[in-house]
This record gives sequence, C-alpha cells and structure tokens, in this order.
Amino acid sequence: MHHGVGPHRRQRAAGLGVSEISGSSGASMSVTAISTLSAQPVRIDRGVGAWLFAIAAMIGMMVLVGGLTRLTGSGLSITEWQPVTGTLPPLSDAAWLAEFAKYQGTPQYELLNRGMGLDGFKSIYWWEWTHRLLGRLLGFVFLLPFLIFLKQRRIDRGIALRLGMIFLLGAAQGALGWWMVQSGLTGARVAVSQYRLAAHLGLAMILFGYVFWTALEIGGARRTRSTEAAGFRPFAVALVGLVFVQIILGALMAGLDAGLAFSTWPTYAGSWVPNGMFDLSPWWINHFENIVLVHFQHRTAGYVVAAMVLWLYLTLRPSADRPLKLAGIHAVVLTTAQVALGVVTVVSMVALPLAALHQLCALALFGSALWWAFTLNANAARSF
Ligand code: HEM
Repeated sequence: MHHGVGPHRRQRAAGLGVSEISGSSGASMSVTAISTLSAQPVRIDRGVGAWLFAIAAMIGMMVLVGGLTRLTGSGLSITEWQPVTGTLPPLSDAAWLAEFAKYQGTPQYELLNRGMGLDGFKSIYWWEWTHRLLGRLLGFVFLLPFLIFLKQRRIDRGIALRLGMIFLLGAAQGALGWWMVQSGLTGARVAVSQYRLAAHLGLAMILFGYVFWTALEIGGARRTRSTEAAGFRPFAVALVGLVFVQIILGALMAGLDAGLAFSTWPTYAGSWVPNGMFDLSPWWINHFENIVLVHFQHRTAGYVVAAMVLWLYLTLRPSADRPLKLAGIHAVVLTTAQVALGVVTVVSMVALPLAALHQLCALALFGSALWWAFTLNANAARSF
C-alpha cells in the first residue's frame, strides 16, 4: 500500500485527532484546535505503529530470556564478545570442547561448577547464546523496516532521528551487556556486578519505554478528553519514574541474590523491621550492597508503587472516559499481579518460573504506567 506524504496526509491525521477530541462540541470544533494538533508533528501511521509495538514486544522477550539466563546461572558461559562470528554456536565436538575449555578457565567454573560435564555446559551455553541471538535479530527487525519506511517517506524527520538514536542505544545495550559479563569473569567473582546488571536492565527498560511511547504516538493511541483528569498527568509521570526506580532496586535485589535474605512474608523472619540494615559503612553503601536493606527497600518501594497506582486510579475514576479507564485498569491489574508475584518469589526462595514472571511483569507494568501518562496528555486534552 502506498502511503502519501505532505499536507494531505497530515491533515488526515489532524482530522482524526480532532474528531477524537471534539466530543460533545462536535461540529463547533474551532480552528485553533486543528492548528494546535497539526503543530504536533507526529503523523499517524498504523503500519509503522504496529512495527514499533512488535519491537517493544521483542524487547520484552529479550528481558524474559535475559532473566532466565541469569536465573539458570548461564550468563557467564560465553567468555567472549564477537558480534559477527558469535552468531553461530559451536558446530563440531571439537568446537564445543574449545568453548568449554575457555569457560573452565573462569573463576565461576573453578569455584561453583567444578566437575560440570559437557552436557551441563551446553545447557547453560544455549541460554546465553539465545539471549545474544535475540539481540542480533532485534537489530535486523529494527533496521530493515526502518530503512524501508524511510525510503517510502513514511517516517518524519523528527521521528527518524529519534529512531536512529534508539538504534544506537540498542547497540550500546549490547556493549553494556558484554561489559556486565566481563565483571563476572575476573578475580574471585562468580557472578556479575549488581551495578552493571542494574545498568543493563535499566537501559533495556529505557529502550522499551522509548519504543513503546513512540508506538503509542504513531499508532494513534487514544487520549482522554477530560481536561480535569489531564491535570493529574504529573502524577502519572511521577509513577513512571517510581516504577523505573523500583525496577533498578529489583535489579540490585537480583544481582545480590538478596531475594534469599528472607523467605517470609509479610514479616522479615518474624520482625516487621529487619535487623542489620545499616551494618556496612559508609551508611549509604547499604542501599546498594547490604542484602538486608536491599531486600527491605525493594519490598517497601513495591508497596509505595501499589499505593500510588490505587490512589491515582480511584482519584481519576469519576472523570475517566474509556481510554483512561482502559489504561488505569491495566496498571491496577498489573500492579496487583506484580506484588503477588513478588510475594510468591520471596516465599518460594526465588523459584525460577516465578522470578522470571516477576521480571516480565515489571516490564508490562512499566509499559502500562507509560500508557497511562500518554493517555493523560494535557496538550491533546487542552485543545477542545
Ligand atoms: C510493584 C512493583 C515491583 C516491581 C516493578 C518489581 C520489579 C522487580 C525487578 C525488575 C526485579 C529484578 C529482576 C532481575 O533483574 O532479574 C525484581 C526482583 C525481585 N523482586 Fe520485585 N518488583 C516489585 C515488587 C516486589 C515486591 C512487593 C516483592 C516482595 C514482596 C518483590 C520481590 C522481589 C524479589 C524476591 C526479587 C528477586 C528475584 C530474583 O532474584 O530473581 N518485588 N523485582
């Protein structure tokens, strides 16, 4: 299908927005509203939007496989970073033995996995390899359609620049992943640095968020018509920030295996406030390196997220129209699921499927918070 550019198409997009926001005022839509909207340069194109939603879903899949790679203790099995030749796994017995020999030289093998057989090695290798392969695949699924859409002139300059930046950030994420893996290959370490893990997960979320937001814009996702509700947008934006911080706190939790520090809920081994939260000095280092405080702060921040979601939902309910209700309900349901998954992850002493789902649900919750903030867009709501 050919997609024309220029004023005609732009008007169509603006017209779509107008009919969306005009509501009861209908035909009396003012000219200012049209110009306000057309001043917003994002052109709606559902095909481009669908492609970006697919990219966001693929990033979600990578986060899931990344979590499984970590939870199965597979992340250090490939001891090199070869962006091109690394695409192929070992294809002969000799090649497998050579890869295994490299792994046998790492402290993790020496200290944790001594005596592991070739089959054991292969199973951890496949996780890490799949995670890396998905990354490469994502690069292609991003780049090829991007170039085609550019050639068809279906992507405006501003969005093209934004997508170009996302591509570069994606490449940086690969490098960051390798920098993280490196931290687990030296000295007496048997796991990667929790700081680098947090940076890697944090950048994954930023990439996901950026793509998802752009998909909402280009896909023409509906926004609220309620100006009253739109006044609460700063709270939804704050919620996005809070969920992001909570995800970083979760990565510290995972990176330190702090989930195992307590296996009771709602108390911490019988007490409401655990002992030993500030045993390390200086005091602030406890927030990043002391498993007791790291566990406590992640649970507590989780409750704060839940309280904020509930408050925002109940506050917006009286003035919410359909798009707003839809986004809000998603946030409420995903938050409930996420807290429940956190609790069962704790009491199961970090059972693999539960911890993996908890990580995936974190991404979905982050997406729903973004969607909520998007729906509350003040610009679109103000213009009628
Ligand atoms: C409601 C918001 C919450 C969000 C967005 C969230 C997010 C996350 C994330 C992103 C991770 C790290 C995943 C990784 O790097 O592999 C994590 C780990 C963890 N979270 Fe949460 N979490 C939330 C609430 C909770 C609550 C309320 C609890 C407990 C009651 C909890 C318990 C845990 C545990 C035990 C881990 C470590 C699991 C592991 O080692 O893989 N979380 N969380």
